[in-house]
Amino acid sequence: MITLHDLGDVRRCCDDVRRSGGRVGLVPTMGFFHEGHRSLMRTARVADDLVVVSVFVNPTQFGPGEDLGGYPRDPDGDAAMADAAGVDVLFAPGVEAMYPDGARTTVHVERLTSRLCGASRPTHFDGVATVVTKLFSIVGPCHAYFGRKDAQQLAVVRRLVDDLNLPVEVVGCPLVRDADGLALSSRNAYLDETERRAALVLVRALRDAAHAVHAGERDALVLRDRARAMIGAEPAVRLDYAELVDARTVEPITRVDGAAVLAVAAVVGRARLIDNLAITVTPSGVETDLGAVAEEQRA
Ligand code: PAJ
Repeated sequence: MITLHDLGDVRRCCDDVRRSGGRVGLVPTMGFFHEGHRSLMRTARVADDLVVVSVFVNPTQFGPGEDLGGYPRDPDGDAAMADAAGVDVLFAPGVEAMYPDGARTTVHVERLTSRLCGASRPTHFDGVATVVTKLFSIVGPCHAYFGRKDAQQLAVVRRLVDDLNLPVEVVGCPLVRDADGLALSSRNAYLDETERRAALVLVRALRDAAHAVHAGERDALVLRDRARAMIGAEPAVRLDYAELVDARTVEPITRVDGAAVLAVAAVVGRARLIDNLAITVTPSGVETDLGAVAEEQRA
């Protein structure tokens, strides 16, 4: 594995591989890897000839007073894990290289970004959309791997790729959970033991919704309100939202039909946590997807 900091070096490396007929896979991250990140890397490793993982704690997606300064970082541990996952290029640009003085362009995806996380973090998705577009532009035609843990982010990225005709194929990958059910997140590092136990109410509420859906419940407001009530009953957890939305448009729905997501966000201690249940209703039946449990963890 090589580590590159220079944007031009990454572009040349990707161009060389494509010129000889190879396929490039990109896994954008903010580092402090866990099994969720590693599962994306492993998926890319199977499909692509050159696997590029970017590590960039993108300042523009953090709002004022958010955790940019304290965001967990472990460059050496990340490099070792990426190497072990078979990554070819670790791309770690500096803030000045990504946002030189004078940058005046941002990417804004209408509507999909105004609800859920966008409602409480109004500048967040402009930051995500802009940095992801820049990464796509640096790397060039590729498969780009994103986790379904961030369901709204995945919808936003799919939309911007379509709207801007970017030569990128977006691949959505399974949500990975810890053995106790908590969705893996770099921000779980902020939780103490008591907070972590309290945070499990999120996955309990999603499991409860999955059972209700399998028992025949299709009323989105009933499912949403049950999740709100369960999470609201845990005093150490401050619910931000629990909404049932269309998976593609992120618009609220009243009946579960097609591809839907029950998305939840809550603040526990210092950590803002998100989680979701994917629900797919087709004429042939219903499927719910809570993701998979991780096999290995950071030591
Ligand atoms: P980050 O939170 O580091 O996540 C990087 C990628 O890992 C995202 O695609 C995210 O969905 C995925 N991921 C995180 N936790 C996961 C889990 N438990 N299971 C499966 N996948 C998981 O998301 C970002 O960084 C940034 O917003 C980024 C896209 C890099 C733009 O800065």
